[in-house]
Amino acid sequence: MILDNKTIIVTGAAGGLGRAFSLRFATEGANVVCADIADASETVSLVKAAGGSALSLKVDITKADSTNAMCQAAEDAFGGIDGIVNNAAIYAGIAMEPFHRIDDAEWDRVMNVNAKGTWQCCKSVYPYLIKRGGGSIVNIASASILEGNPFFAHYTASKGAVWALTRSVSRVVGEQGIRCNSITPGYTMTDASKGLAGDPEAFQKNYDYSIQTRAIHRAMEADDVVGTVLFLLSDDSAFLTGQNLNVDGGCINY
Ligand SMILES: NC(=O)c1ccc[n+]([C@@H]2O[C@H](COP(=O)([O-])OP(=O)(O)OC[C@H]3O[C@@H](n4cnc5c(N)ncnc54)[C@H](O)[C@@H]3O)[C@@H](O)[C@H]2O)c1
Repeated sequence: MILDNKTIIVTGAAGGLGRAFSLRFATEGANVVCADIADASETVSLVKAAGGSALSLKVDITKADSTNAMCQAAEDAFGGIDGIVNNAAIYAGIAMEPFHRIDDAEWDRVMNVNAKGTWQCCKSVYPYLIKRGGGSIVNIASASILEGNPFFAHYTASKGAVWALTRSVSRVVGEQGIRCNSITPGYTMTDASKGLAGDPEAFQKNYDYSIQTRAIHRAMEADDVVGTVLFLLSDDSAFLTGQNLNVDGGCINY
């Protein structure tokens, strides 16, 4: 199995993409640490029901104490850490407003979790990956940074920061055999995405548009993202670092 005997932390694992990552990594032999500010125990139950190994942790990725404790708990439970998928973010419930209608507090909230929180997780996990003799960090950005999306500029800017952070981090951690890459998923049918548009008519419009503007004309599901992240965690991508892989079914509108 691709991740046999590896321990992988997935932040934002309570549902959506984080749950899909957790389920697949466990199937590939990993011990999965399912970390979220929300309760991730349902994800852990699903992993265990499928015969996998997982641990649920309550974590706020914006707080150093919390992300440090997450890494220590992972090491205590499974003996070390081989990788982290920095997936937690403010995405669900973001208002689809243009940049000039976003207020200060909302800008700070989104940047704090998505950009600073991702940085905080990279910082906390780094010594553990060094101790392990190498590892892989995968940051979840968003294809919205390529698209010129007229809405949620704070979210788009925060994910641009995640991309830029990835390149900086990769330059530092490479010395210790650690890789850092990002992915930019397209519009994926998680519960968070379904709720984003506000009403069913607006959702249908977004849904149809996303399908029309892809080379692969169908809806994108969480499982469409999982394989690329698995590859970035695995030794098959051993010489790939500082890169972004865009996983969006071939969008043609940017
Ligand atoms: N679904 C999409 O279309 C899409 C597209 C591109 C990128 N993404 C990104 O993929 C990731 C997952 O998206 P999703 O659709 O599953 O959304 P989601 O809202 O279900 O997942 C985000 C998770 O992060 C957690 N979280 C929020 N703040 C946190 C904090 N401070 N500390 C710890 N956990 C926190 C939430 O509780 C939630 O479980 C996000 O980074 C999102 O920006 C999603």
